[in-house]
Amino acid sequence: MGNFLVGKVIAVTGAGRGIGRAVALACAAHGARVVVNDYGVSVEGGEPSSEVAAAVTEEITAAGGEAVAAADDVATMAGGARIVDTALERYGRLDGVVCVAGILRERMLFNMTEEEWDPVVATHLKGTFTLFRAASAVMRKQRSGTLIGFTSGNHQGSVAQANYASAKGGIISLVRSAALGLHKYGVTANAVAPVARTRMSANVPMELTEIGEPEDVAAFVVYLLSDRAREQKITGQVYTVAGPKIALWAQPREVRAAYSADGWSPEKLAASLPVTLGTDPMPMLAQLEAMAAAAAKGERPNG
Ligand SMILES: NC(=O)c1ccc[n+]([C@@H]2O[C@H](COP(=O)([O-])OP(=O)(O)OC[C@H]3O[C@@H](n4cnc5c(N)ncnc54)[C@H](O)[C@@H]3O)[C@@H](O)[C@H]2O)c1
Repeated sequence: MGNFLVGKVIAVTGAGRGIGRAVALACAAHGARVVVNDYGVSVEGGEPSSEVAAAVTEEITAAGGEAVAAADDVATMAGGARIVDTALERYGRLDGVVCVAGILRERMLFNMTEEEWDPVVATHLKGTFTLFRAASAVMRKQRSGTLIGFTSGNHQGSVAQANYASAKGGIISLVRSAALGLHKYGVTANAVAPVARTRMSANVPMELTEIGEPEDVAAFVVYLLSDRAREQKITGQVYTVAGPKIALWAQPREVRAAYSADGWSPEKLAASLPVTLGTDPMPMLAQLEAMAAAAAKGERPNG
């Protein structure tokens, strides 16, 4: 299919289904040897099965590619280390890590339990850390490598997925930290916010106006993993991929500042803040209000 990743070894987590599977297949089709990780769980994270990773590994080898299965849980340090070790033991190197694994446990914040919070944050955020931690030690010595985290537009906030949104926000900070901390070792780190038809996106309670297929996301990830993206100095970035649309997210920065030479009191702030700083419009809040207005008219809201 292509030759963007010839000679590279890439580990993909959550590669048994959805976007991860498409990424693993595309990496192999572009010449990479692939570690196919998947814990094989339900959308909520239960009932693990090693068959899911094995099936995609067979799919790759049947198509003439090279792959090895790893059914580890990315939420454990041992699991993350084993996935990296699998690459080293089988192929002798590791050029890229793509952390796609994820689960959902939806609940309004005021009802959310510890059992709904912890596994979601552990799978997404810690599950990216465990791979980045083990892989970056290898890449630092090798003086090259690419780390990719998976975030979501929901990092801006979410009505009923505070656990997921928090983890996705954390992944962006982790990616930026990796980009900064590993810059001098020639290692890049970026985040992808996908919108694609999978079992996970099937239950979104709105009509998504911008959505595509897992293969659209996979093509973007192959580019990010390639020497072309490394030569183009792509690091510390967050990109959306939604079908035909790709988009770049802004780096966080201060919008406006105000100073008071003799300090700020609550009274002074009450008088000054609305004029000097004001607020920065929150797109998700505006969308929420538009959705509520559409629902009040009996229409199906657009997202
Ligand atoms: N589909 C979308 O539109 C969309 C939107 C925003 C973000 N994302 C993100 O993209 C990623 C992929 O989502 P998807 O839609 O393909 O989901 P999916 O449910 O189809 O696939 C996720 C895979 O991760 C695996 N997994 C879960 N926990 C794991 C663990 N602890 N260790 C290893 N593997 C584990 C699952 O078994 C599953 O095969 C996720 O991080 C998700 O949050 C997806």
